[in-house]
Amino acid sequence: MSFDEIIDRRGTHSAKWDMMETLYGVPAKDGLSMWVADMDFRPPQCVQDAVQGMADHGVYGYFGGDGEYKAAIQWWMENRHGWQVQPEWIFTTHGLVNGTSMCIDTFTAPGDGVVLFTPVYHAFARVIEAAGRRVVECEMPLADGRYELDIEGWNARMDGSETMLILCSPHNPGGRVWTRTELEQVAEFARRHDLILVSDEIHHDLVYPGHRHIPMAHIDGIADRLVMMTATTKTFNIAGSHVGNVIISDPALRTRFAARMAAMGMSPNSFGLIMATAAYSPEGAAWVDDLMVYLDGNRKVFDAGIAQIPGLASAPLEATYLSWVSFEGTGMTPEEFTGRVSKEARIATNAGPTFGKGGESFLRFNIATPRARIDEAVARLKDAFGDLQ
Ligand SMILES: Cc1ncc(COP(=O)(O)O)c(C=O)c1O
Repeated sequence: MSFDEIIDRRGTHSAKWDMMETLYGVPAKDGLSMWVADMDFRPPQCVQDAVQGMADHGVYGYFGGDGEYKAAIQWWMENRHGWQVQPEWIFTTHGLVNGTSMCIDTFTAPGDGVVLFTPVYHAFARVIEAAGRRVVECEMPLADGRYELDIEGWNARMDGSETMLILCSPHNPGGRVWTRTELEQVAEFARRHDLILVSDEIHHDLVYPGHRHIPMAHIDGIADRLVMMTATTKTFNIAGSHVGNVIISDPALRTRFAARMAAMGMSPNSFGLIMATAAYSPEGAAWVDDLMVYLDGNRKVFDAGIAQIPGLASAPLEATYLSWVSFEGTGMTPEEFTGRVSKEARIATNAGPTFGKGGESFLRFNIATPRARIDEAVARLKDAFGDLQ
């Protein structure tokens, strides 16, 4: 397959393409959709074959026997991340937003503080607040457009009412791959404030050359308070299958989580499990390697284009296909630069403030689309901000 192929996703119940007019006022006719995090590519053939096999069989009953699925997860984590996972550690949730809310429900109480390093993936705050817990925003400082941790400053902000920290690793948005030293600092922060550490590693396969993702599970002295979350869905572009893994090595935490899963009546979706099992394979791995070469090319073209527009600056992406662009240098209000992007450039993006403190002067652009669309987006942005040249 070629990542260059333009696939028209309009009229397919695609949130990304079919909701952009309603949500962002970007016309369906000739708008470019660069918001929500799914890619405009088909998954690898092994995943297509698995779905086709289900359709050919044509009976869609309850799923049973998750041994193959768990073995595929073990294989992937060992081969791609050097992380050994035991089958009994793995819980399957209805995606990782659901996994996050299950963790909040299991390990915190109403009114508790849940710490986020912001700006960060917006659904975390949404589910924390919906569950009647409090979001404790710890804003990350920027150094040359790259987010850093401010553990010392954040230590002083904790008041003892916080019971959980949700880390995004690699980070969305901003694209940081946290270093071992940074992960050790995060672990120390969680221990010091007695926080359960939920490490959302959904972007862990989408890492660019020169960077290496380290699973939080590889950091010493954190296992007794650590919940890992991973999924096939970002990596293979199968987010509609809504399946994710919550992986807990600590037996006591696991017992508590298992009890909540049982109480919520959670059971897996057969499409999700069969697609994920097919994806975590040597064929899937080769596809991801090709994907990353393509995305690396997109990242370079997009960054080079943004760098030519005075006042705009894109974060140096170390991972993810979500480019975080600052408009601070334009001197415009958020309404003005957002309006120019959605109305003049006709591009749907995610608004920075939805990611929490520190996101005010940013828009997030999804660059996982055929290269021709990246070229088109850059050309439209140059026009929309042409008066700044
Ligand atoms: C950090 C992070 N976690 C979770 C999700 C969504 O997970 P799911 O679709 O499995 O609910 C996203 C989607 O962009 C994400 O960026």
